[in-house]
Amino acid sequence: MKIRAAVLEEFGAPLEVQELDLAEPKAGEVLVRVEACGVCHTDLYTGSGADPSGYAPTVLGHEGAGVVERVGDGVASVAPGDHVVTLFSPQCRECIHCRDERTNLCLAIREQQNRGFLPDGTTRLSRDGEPVRHFMGTSTFAEYTVMPEIALAKITPDAPLDGACLFACGLSTGLGAAINTAKVQPGSTCVVFGAGMVGLGAVAGCRLQGAERIVGVDLSDERLELARGQGATDTIRGGPDAVQQILELTGGFGADYTFEATGLVDVMRQALESARMGWGLATVCGVAGKGETLDVVPRFLITGRRIAGSSFGGVKGRDQVPQLVDRWLAGELDLEPFLSHRLTLDDVNRGFELMERQDGIRSVIGFAQT
Ligand SMILES: NC(=O)c1ccc[n+]([C@@H]2O[C@H](COP(=O)([O-])OP(=O)(O)OC[C@H]3O[C@@H](n4cnc5c(N)ncnc54)[C@H](O)[C@@H]3O)[C@@H](O)[C@H]2O)c1
Ligand SMILES: [Zn+2]
Ligand SMILES: [Zn+2]
Repeated sequence: MKIRAAVLEEFGAPLEVQELDLAEPKAGEVLVRVEACGVCHTDLYTGSGADPSGYAPTVLGHEGAGVVERVGDGVASVAPGDHVVTLFSPQCRECIHCRDERTNLCLAIREQQNRGFLPDGTTRLSRDGEPVRHFMGTSTFAEYTVMPEIALAKITPDAPLDGACLFACGLSTGLGAAINTAKVQPGSTCVVFGAGMVGLGAVAGCRLQGAERIVGVDLSDERLELARGQGATDTIRGGPDAVQQILELTGGFGADYTFEATGLVDVMRQALESARMGWGLATVCGVAGKGETLDVVPRFLITGRRIAGSSFGGVKGRDQVPQLVDRWLAGELDLEPFLSHRLTLDDVNRGFELMERQDGIRSVIGFAQT
């Protein structure tokens, strides 16, 4: 079939919206009609050429939500008409990692996905017979996409898809960091560095876990206000003296749980240093620049602080994304403040500009079917 999609032709150049061919789903694959897709930093990072493992041409986009149109042979967990959230982090439910509750890093299709192929090593996307690669196994800056069944979370049809798409990446990452990785205990004190989509998700996750005190840290007053809206009880301005301020707020000890959601290695260090002696846990969500390293004084570890990384918030997507969506619909989460701009596919490059200007939390592309 012919589809319209935003293609990364050349690193550093704007995406080009154009017509492509999309082949039918093969065994274990699903054709999804994309209804909404968020614009995220990872799309921009790859588009800019900063990611050394990036490739072109490819269709970017990974924060998708849509409706199953057709399924390939052997697909049993979703059927035409089902509403789904796309997962760049799949869940096969069979590999050694999927069967272990300690991680969400499914091993099933990693290698082919990282190279831009579907699990059988080929693409369904093409142009004039030339293959176009799939980005993050999702390629959701497109009217339709073909994805592996194991990379789709089936959600309730009651969920508006423009909000549901936020669960495909940043929001679940923040929520999961608090719920799965840190397992925040009720009554605890938490600090969240960064109040973008990920950090705001972490604030909400700490609140859902019953944290008593949640300190939001950011450079922007507007974003600190959003953090309050998600449950932050205190806010402070980020900067070199943030650790000192947190120690003062916590009787000199630091917080039970800290979260980093900035991508800055200096802030990751601050997250560790403001975690409490004895048991404080710093959870790192941010993706640092290539080659950057984290500088840690070992004394902070010897005295009982711990540090953990979190990819997609430790969320096992097919099991947990539907549960998180249900919590949203039950009124436990307010997504309205995150949906800053609604764009069409043709405006995709404007989504990148808005993100670079930090204008709003998320721009969401809508694909109203005409
Ligand atoms: N681990 C994962 O699976 C995963 C998934 C999605 C995104 N990420 C990463 O998470 C990070 C955050 O993503 P986002 O979409 O929320 O980004 P964002 O740019 O919207 O938010 C980052 C926030 O950090 C704030 N900040 C900058 N310097 C600061 C400082 N010194 N102290 C406190 N705050 C400071 C900024 O003002 C901004 O509000 C990025 O590195 C992104 O790549 C990771
Ligand atoms: Zn993302
Ligand atoms: Zn697996």
